[in-house]
Amino acid sequence: MNIQANSQHSLLLVDDEEDIRDVLRLPLEDLGYRVLTADNAGTALSVFNQEKPAVVLTDIKMPGMDGIELLQKIKHECPETEVIMITGHGDMNLAIKSLKYEATDFIIKPINVDGLAIALGRAEERISTRCQLREHTRNLEKLLQEKTELQDHLSSLGLLISSVSHGIKGLVTRLDGGLYLLDSGIHKGDTAQIAAGRDALRQTAARIKKMVQDILFYAKERALQPETVDTAEFAREVIATVQLRTDGKPLALQYDLANAPDQMVIDSESLHSALVSILDNAIDACLKDTQKDKHRIDFIIEKNINTVVFNIRDNGIGMDRETREKIFTLFFSSKDRKGTGLGLYIADRIIAQHNGHIEVESQPGRGSCFRIRIPDKPRTPGNRS
Ligand SMILES: Nc1ncnc2c1ncn2[C@@H]1O[C@H](COP(=O)(O)OP(=O)(O)O)[C@@H](O)[C@H]1O
Ligand SMILES: [Mg+2]
Repeated sequence: MNIQANSQHSLLLVDDEEDIRDVLRLPLEDLGYRVLTADNAGTALSVFNQEKPAVVLTDIKMPGMDGIELLQKIKHECPETEVIMITGHGDMNLAIKSLKYEATDFIIKPINVDGLAIALGRAEERISTRCQLREHTRNLEKLLQEKTELQDHLSSLGLLISSVSHGIKGLVTRLDGGLYLLDSGIHKGDTAQIAAGRDALRQTAARIKKMVQDILFYAKERALQPETVDTAEFAREVIATVQLRTDGKPLALQYDLANAPDQMVIDSESLHSALVSILDNAIDACLKDTQKDKHRIDFIIEKNINTVVFNIRDNGIGMDRETREKIFTLFFSSKDRKGTGLGLYIADRIIAQHNGHIEVESQPGRGSCFRIRIPDKPRTPGNRS
């Protein structure tokens, strides 16, 4: 007998003759199978449903439900099951019919164990081929996903380059304008014009710096570096960064620290950048608004239970619901060439890194309020959450 113990699968042996079940059990166990038995098709089905054996070896002719019907039910339930039919000498037609219903093979009584081993070997091969196929499919799916990610990345990069190029173009025009003011001011000895030119250049330099910072934040998310900062000093620095844009405009930029904590534990560089993005948008929204004579932006820092809340409220143009729903989307901007659509996407990411979140309320024509809540102490310092 040429038997190789090679399977770790369960095998369900179905035959109404006890002798056959007894005779076959041992060689099947020697082949490595965990052998389950049933003496009729009904019992076989319930054993099958419970144990889901990989291989079923069934007699074709049985009282009650016959082997062909059992085969059909098993294939319907679990098409990958390898079903080998046992047939009598005169049952060739039934055997061929069973192949139509996708039996793996049939063996003829009296059963020769070598023949049985060959049929089972074939079944095992099919099982292992299917496993390999599944593995290949998994690998392919992984590759496909990587390719899609790469494609997404490339198209984001394309969008980034195009939005940044537009931004830079605008800034270069501003640089030219500032230089012109400065030059002609010097030429005419007009100190007011010189000052205006210098302010314009300073402002443009600040915007270039912010844009580069945004691009760097976008390109690489760095780990949070929390430190204890003085709240008043931090707020002053944030305001100072955007103040130039409001100077000389009917736009009051005020901050209120009456209920603020004295100190905060934050990553000051990234949070500074996020708040400046939100304040910049508030300034844009006020400057764009032609409905009101006076505009005002309030920057309020408050201490709450275990949180620090940063409120940035403006009475600018506000947003409709459709805009409001898209503002955190990468590259979304309603400012044509003047916007990159990076600001809020990155701000949102930075606040999430601080384990915080941003709430936005806005009404078209009335203004907007951005409320940022972060825990007063990062849960795990340096954690990217
Ligand atoms: N305070 C605000 N008032 C009105 N609209 C705003 C305000 N803040 C953000 N938005 C809207 O959200 C969009 C996305 O903002 P952002 O990500 O900073 O990109 P960008 O400023 O480059 O357009 C803006 O284009 C604008 O439509
Ligand atoms: Mg912006």
